[in-house]
Amino acid sequence: AAIEKGGYDHFMLKEIYEQPSTIQDCLRGRLNASAGTITMSGIDDHIDQIINANRIMIVACGTSWHAGLVAEYIIEELCRIPVEVEYASEFRYRNPIVNKGDIIIAISQSGETADTLVALEKAKENGAFIFGVVNAVGSSIARIAHAGAYTHAGHEIGVASTKAFTGQLAVLMMAALKIALKKGTINNERFQELLNELADVPEKVAAILKNADAIKAIALKYKDAKDFLFLGRGYNFPIALEGALKLKEISYIHAEGYPAAEMKHGPIALVDDQLPVVFIATKDSYHEKIVSNMQEIKARKGKIIAVITEGDTISPTMSDDVIAIPTADELIAPIISVIPLQLLSYYTGIAKGVDVDKPRNLAKSVTVE
Ligand code: G6P
Repeated sequence: AAIEKGGYDHFMLKEIYEQPSTIQDCLRGRLNASAGTITMSGIDDHIDQIINANRIMIVACGTSWHAGLVAEYIIEELCRIPVEVEYASEFRYRNPIVNKGDIIIAISQSGETADTLVALEKAKENGAFIFGVVNAVGSSIARIAHAGAYTHAGHEIGVASTKAFTGQLAVLMMAALKIALKKGTINNERFQELLNELADVPEKVAAILKNADAIKAIALKYKDAKDFLFLGRGYNFPIALEGALKLKEISYIHAEGYPAAEMKHGPIALVDDQLPVVFIATKDSYHEKIVSNMQEIKARKGKIIAVITEGDTISPTMSDDVIAIPTADELIAPIISVIPLQLLSYYTGIAKGVDVDKPRNLAKSVTVE
């Protein structure tokens, strides 16, 4: 087993560290920054149907659902197509409106999640076009889809999804860029800029991983907290949800993810000098707003752990601990900003003695309801 883990203590850590190469594998053969092209046959072969869609529905569970939320923000911004994101378990039972020609994007690491699979079967019967974003090659969801793109993250063993998630984000970003270019909702210059940014992601992820010891120290400092709050805005809002989910899954610490402004409608009541609040506060168009949310937490003596962009001098003055990550375009930032949160959860789980690869009560793939 030690050999399978490639020298790492756990599969989860190995999979976190594989991300520079799994993201590269996902981009390889698709993204060509110097030629200024993205090739994805699953999109190319159906491009007219996709650009003419009235809306896109995204169906998924768990971490894959969080990738869907990021995709909603990105597709609406770049492609100007309305997007709805649904939990597969809700979608399948609530008699949703699905019409012929509707586009459904199914996101699944395993390709075997029962709720997602049944949701797709129903949508397919109603004439929807199913596009799969799947990691496991040849899986049930990959087979039921009309078209799709594999994430190429390799076999994921740790129950908490890490490398599959960043692969999902990379695929969805490439798909959005392709659709936007064809639809004419993005100009060539912006397309090329985002292409270059995406090509730089593996390198930036590697840089964060080099800083793992600093993140481990933060995990040790807060490991005895009873609750955690994760806050983000815009493209980083789903990353706040994902950070909270990951921490719950593998450390058993109660955690909530929230849009930073929405915290005033509830979670702020929890803030005291014992509560760690993780802000995903990278430099983007929401930055000023999130900085004022940080002030609000600080005024109530909450402990602030901030994921910030390198060179930001304002956020550190308000934070108890900072994790600085490389600069990235705000649309690309989620693929990068999730990495420190994966590490934070991992080290917290380890410090608490949790079997992080197989946390209690959880399954890698939920194949029964
Ligand atoms: C389980 C796993 C999660 C995963 C979710 C959806 O809850 O523990 O890591 O995100 O299922 O799985 P899928 O394979 O459909 O992405």
